[in-house]
Amino acid sequence: MLLPLSVLLALPLCGALAPKGPWDAFNFAPTSKIVKPVSIRSVSGNVRGAQGLVQNSAAQATFSGNGSFVVLDWGKEVGGILSMTINDATPSSRFSFSFTESAEFISPNQSDDSCRSAATQNADGVQSFLAPLRKGLLTQTIGQQRGGFRFLTIVSNDADPLTISNISLAITFMPHWDDLRAYRGYFFAPDPGFHDVNFLTKLWYAGAYTVQTNTIDSHQARGPCTPIDGWANNASGGPVDGPILGDCGISTHTALVALNDLLPTKNALTVMFSTQDPATGALQYSGPPINAHGSDTYIAGDLDFVKFVWANYTKALNFLESHVDETGLANVPAAFQNDWGRDGGAGHNSAFNALLYRTLITASDLATQLGDQSLAGAYLVNSTLIKRAYNNLLWDSDAGMFRDNDMANSIHPQDGNSLAVLFNVTTSATQNKAISKGLTKFWTPIGPLSPELNDTIIPFVGGFEHILSQEKAHVGSITRKEWGYMLYTNLSVQSTLLEGFTANGSLGYRAAAGYDFDHAYTSHAHGWATGPTPALTFYVVGIQLTTAQGASWKIAPVLSGLPSAEGGLSTGLGFFGVKWKGHCLETPAGTEGEVTLPGTGPLTVDNRVQPTSSNSVTLKGGKHTITRRALRTRFMYILTPFQKGKMFYSMGKYDAVS
Ligand SMILES: *[C@@H]1O[C@H](CO)[C@@H](O)[C@H](O)[C@H]1NC(C)=O
Ligand SMILES: *[C@@H]1O[C@H](CO)[C@@H](O)[C@H](O)[C@H]1NC(C)=O
Ligand SMILES: *[C@@H]1O[C@H](CO)[C@@H](O)[C@H](O)[C@H]1NC(C)=O
Ligand SMILES: *[C@@H]1O[C@H](CO)[C@@H](O)[C@H](O)[C@H]1NC(C)=O
Ligand SMILES: *[C@@H]1O[C@H](CO)[C@@H](O)[C@H](O)[C@H]1NC(C)=O
Ligand SMILES: *[C@@H]1O[C@H](CO)[C@@H](O)[C@H](O)[C@H]1NC(C)=O
Ligand SMILES: *[C@@H]1O[C@H](CO)[C@@H](O)[C@H](O)[C@H]1NC(C)=O
Ligand SMILES: *[C@@H]1O[C@H](CO)[C@@H](O)[C@H](O)[C@H]1NC(C)=O
Ligand SMILES: *[C@@H]1O[C@H](CO)[C@@H](O)[C@H](O)[C@H]1NC(C)=O
Ligand SMILES: *[C@@H]1O[C@H](CO)[C@@H](O)[C@H](O)[C@H]1NC(C)=O
Repeated sequence: MLLPLSVLLALPLCGALAPKGPWDAFNFAPTSKIVKPVSIRSVSGNVRGAQGLVQNSAAQATFSGNGSFVVLDWGKEVGGILSMTINDATPSSRFSFSFTESAEFISPNQSDDSCRSAATQNADGVQSFLAPLRKGLLTQTIGQQRGGFRFLTIVSNDADPLTISNISLAITFMPHWDDLRAYRGYFFAPDPGFHDVNFLTKLWYAGAYTVQTNTIDSHQARGPCTPIDGWANNASGGPVDGPILGDCGISTHTALVALNDLLPTKNALTVMFSTQDPATGALQYSGPPINAHGSDTYIAGDLDFVKFVWANYTKALNFLESHVDETGLANVPAAFQNDWGRDGGAGHNSAFNALLYRTLITASDLATQLGDQSLAGAYLVNSTLIKRAYNNLLWDSDAGMFRDNDMANSIHPQDGNSLAVLFNVTTSATQNKAISKGLTKFWTPIGPLSPELNDTIIPFVGGFEHILSQEKAHVGSITRKEWGYMLYTNLSVQSTLLEGFTANGSLGYRAAAGYDFDHAYTSHAHGWATGPTPALTFYVVGIQLTTAQGASWKIAPVLSGLPSAEGGLSTGLGFFGVKWKGHCLETPAGTEGEVTLPGTGPLTVDNRVQPTSSNSVTLKGGKHTITRRALRTRFMYILTPFQKGKMFYSMGKYDAVS
């Protein structure tokens, strides 16, 4: 059997859209920014003509009786400003809306909790529209809008009848995009080993849609909660309290591979730096790990932005380094120990020091790009000192894993170990392998239980573990367990990705650790949970950009036991695609990269057997065919150019792109 792989490397083409294909059926983003409910989940009491509310028609629904309600299902996570027509009402007719992401919290008298958590699970309540109602079009204010929900309950709160029609939602997320489906990247890979063969494709798009739903107008952020019911989504002041910020270490990569939309990240970083503590240099708690800055800017190639924030960036880094003590590791003060919400992050914490190591590496790289070789060298020296201390103080050779800190009885954490491998704090492949294996001790049928927070499966950290587990068994396994649970459980919105959940699969993430046992408070659209989207592009499809915007690149697919895969992403330089089908390879002039194929024996490039048995070959622009013998199969790879207005790949799957 031949499993060919094609690789498309693009010519400059700004704003290019991803090719059309069967994958589009799995894109959750709606075709219009005005969306309507797709079905009636349930009706209670007396509601005549409820079905009219889900159709694109003028059909009216009449509620009779106090407490009669209808539950509308929008089919997936949505968010924005509702409007509907009030066709008939008496002077005393009144009604309310209640919202929920999970079907678990559908109720005519409560919404799920978005503004604050409460043990009683009734912090948000309902949104009431009091008598007398005005006939005609009713539209929510910006403050009244609901940021994310799937189910809307409309309940009559009076014995008098009420007739409504024409309900719709004007989506407010992604305010800077007119077409929510104008993706710049795509992904498609059947997974016959899973109960849904389209799982991986759906998951990739679920991650992308999650990041879209998290991208909001900076004047429509969550406002201060009042002690009484309700919410106000009209706060200004930038995305500081908005959902896009905290998760950039993961979500920025998702935004890159699917959307090529790094503007929200840049805005968030701008706010972070502008609100830096002028005395200490500390950045706000809600910000992204500072390392995200280096790598994102690196990808975006936006050196002007680096220059703009450089003084603040280096000051923030000095602040982090000021916590390094005589052990060689940073000693995290209790005030900064919270991190993603885990327990016990203070002291010589592993995850923090892995992040600091990575930050020093990217800072050194940025300093080089700015021409400051001596600063670059100094950062590099400091990074090696951290790496040495990390391995000396925290490595537990018996367990084959890093300890969380240097205290007695320290646990072996999921975050510090995943990040150590991911950020190259380790010293050998053997060590990486031991950690990868060690991490599987935490696995349950629905994902790894994080030892650093009781009863918690945390897709943020799971995302880092997912990215590092490139071996085929691991990619399939952790993805299918953790994200396979999240995407299909009837507790989730089955479209965007959960903040976290518990060992038994309940929504009680952090129930005992700050969320007041309020299962209704857990977020169902959390950018930090989208790690598989970039991982599938970087590893399964195998496209990695090694210098700014992909002027140089690395193609190294991890076949992951899958029969085929294809996908692509865009940068300012154009579109990069890979497909395991075809038999030639072409790159545009001016780019250069390395192709690494799995398998055994020498590579064949353009039917010429390579002189060495290396598994990699460095290629400049031109047409090539590469093959290599795998254990039982041969793999072939194609790289073809992408040109404006032309079919850039003619296997019948791609459309012309203009
Ligand atoms: C989910 O499915 C289970 C098993 O069918 C059922 O008992 C439960 O009520 C469902 N939950 C929701 C929220 O629909
Ligand atoms: C809220 O609604 C539920 C039905 O979903 C009902 O059982 C309960 O009595 C209601 N509570 C109040 C206070 O009205
Ligand atoms: C913000 O929204 C809340 C809730 O809808 C509303 O009470 C408040 O007046 C709004 N504030 C502004 C400045 O519009
Ligand atoms: C409607 O029902 C609610 C809950 O049972 C009750 O509190 C309220 O007084 C009723 N309203 C009217 C006008 O009957
Ligand atoms: C239906 O709703 C839309 C969107 O709010 C509005 O533009 C339109 O005027 C409404 N139609 C009627 C007949 O009220
Ligand atoms: C740098 O930080 C100061 C506060 O210390 C702030 O006033 C300034 O706006 C920041 N500069 C940038 C470019 O963010
Ligand atoms: C390197 O670490 C030392 C000691 O912690 C510190 O004084 C120095 O500022 C650091 N250098 C850089 C470039 O951050
Ligand atoms: C990992 O770090 C070592 C130095 O400790 C370095 O030689 C190696 O190149 C690094 N690997 C990568 C992939 O950056
Ligand atoms: C961990 O969580 C479980 C489930 O909520 C609970 O039963 C147990 O007591 C918790 N253990 C600790 C040490 O908090
Ligand atoms: C699942 O665990 C949570 C605590 O995390 C607990 O509140 C809940 O009752 C458990 N559910 C079941 C069905 O055991």
